[in-house]
Amino acid sequence: MNAACRKLRGKKGFSVSILSYGARIFEITAPDREGQTANVVLNCRGAAEYQNDPWYTGATVGRYANRIASGSFEFDGTTYVLTENEPGVTLHGGVHGFDRVEWAPLQHAEDEFVELRYVSPDGDQGFPGTLTANVRYSIVDGNALRIDYTAITSTQTIVNLTNHSYFNLSGDTSQNVDDHLIQVFASNFTPVDAQKIPTGEILSVEGTALDLRDPCSVPNLDVNYVLDRRTDADLTPAAFVSHPKSGRSLHVATTEPGLQVFSGRGNGIALETQHFPDSPHHSAFPSTVLRPGERYQSTTIYRFFAD
Ligand code: BGC
Repeated sequence: MNAACRKLRGKKGFSVSILSYGARIFEITAPDREGQTANVVLNCRGAAEYQNDPWYTGATVGRYANRIASGSFEFDGTTYVLTENEPGVTLHGGVHGFDRVEWAPLQHAEDEFVELRYVSPDGDQGFPGTLTANVRYSIVDGNALRIDYTAITSTQTIVNLTNHSYFNLSGDTSQNVDDHLIQVFASNFTPVDAQKIPTGEILSVEGTALDLRDPCSVPNLDVNYVLDRRTDADLTPAAFVSHPKSGRSLHVATTEPGLQVFSGRGNGIALETQHFPDSPHHSAFPSTVLRPGERYQSTTIYRFFAD
């Protein structure tokens, strides 16, 4: 594992460090209201911990973020059998997903951006087509991390990429996130069965414990929200997280239709912008199919404030 690290720098101590292993975010430093910077994402200590990391810490997740039922899907009568890493389920791209490969740094501009590429061979984890995936991390306006994903394929396939960072705005990643507030801009969610596979329904959060439309403390959650899409902008607000004690806050906006909120790790909140889980088995969900000649594009912006 050659986990080369590239550091991007913004204003007032805002910085983002990227590893080539899994195209992972290693560290994000952001100032508090006094101007003190601290790391606000969970990370691992050293190569061995990353290679054995069951949490996808900071990783680019692919080819298909989230779950695919029965560890397989079909195109035009052909069944593609995927590697399974939960009983009968393919999670986060399978046994050896994008989080566990070396990405090649393609280009960078000092302090401003870095772009990495992984060429996933035809049949990788059972997925059809050679998929060339790029992820570009850049700092915009001095206080925001922009992630642009693009991909092309040699034959029809499915793609759903996300980043699996866990945020802890206190600046002390050993603490839990009980003193954070969260808001998710979604009126609906996709309910799941016991294997965490969507039933196919899209239900309202109204009157349920999953309604995070007003800021509240962080519940123990593992839910895909259907974002309330804005039609007047490319990027839809997805979530707002704040830590009143330090004054740090984070606003997430995305081109994606969904946001998986996962707080089950305790000391960090994953805000995974993505298409819905198991979309290949639900024709009513937005499609994750990518065909030759098309270009997969997805953008998410994580903007940090201090006040
Ligand atoms: C999923 C969880 C899963 C976790 C694994 C999250 O994205 O939503 O169900 O346990 O990843 O680290």
